[in-house]
Amino acid sequence: MPKILLHKNGRIHEGEVKENTNLVVRAGIKQFPYPNLSYGCGMGKCAKCACIVIRGGEQLPAPNWKEKKQLGDKLDEGYRLACQLWIEHDIELSQDNIDPALAARGDGITRIA
Ligand code: FES
Repeated sequence: MPKILLHKNGRIHEGEVKENTNLVVRAGIKQFPYPNLSYGCGMGKCAKCACIVIRGGEQLPAPNWKEKKQLGDKLDEGYRLACQLWIEHDIELSQDNIDPALAARGDGITRIA
C-alpha cells in the first residue's frame, strides 16, 4: 500500500492508502489525509489542492491539461494538483510554503482544514 507523507503547518502527517487512491477524494470522505489536506473544487479548477512533490514524483504520470493550465511554470518547481493524481506509489508532498499567489486563487470554495 502506498505510504503518504504530507507536510502541512510545519508537521508531517503520515498514512497509508490503497493503490490508485485520490487524496482529495479521501479527504472528502474524512479519511487520511483529512483534515490536513487543503483542497477546493476537486476538479482541477481552483488549485487549492496544489502540493509540492518532495519525493516520488518520478512515479506520477505527466501533468494533465488542467494541471498545466492551473500551475503553469510551477510544474517545473515540482507543483502538482492533488485532485488530479491517483497515487500508486509512496509519495511525499508538501502544502507548506506554497506560493501565496497560487494559494490565494480559487473559485470561492474553501474546505481548508
Ligand atoms: S481541488 Fe480544485 S484544483 Fe484541486
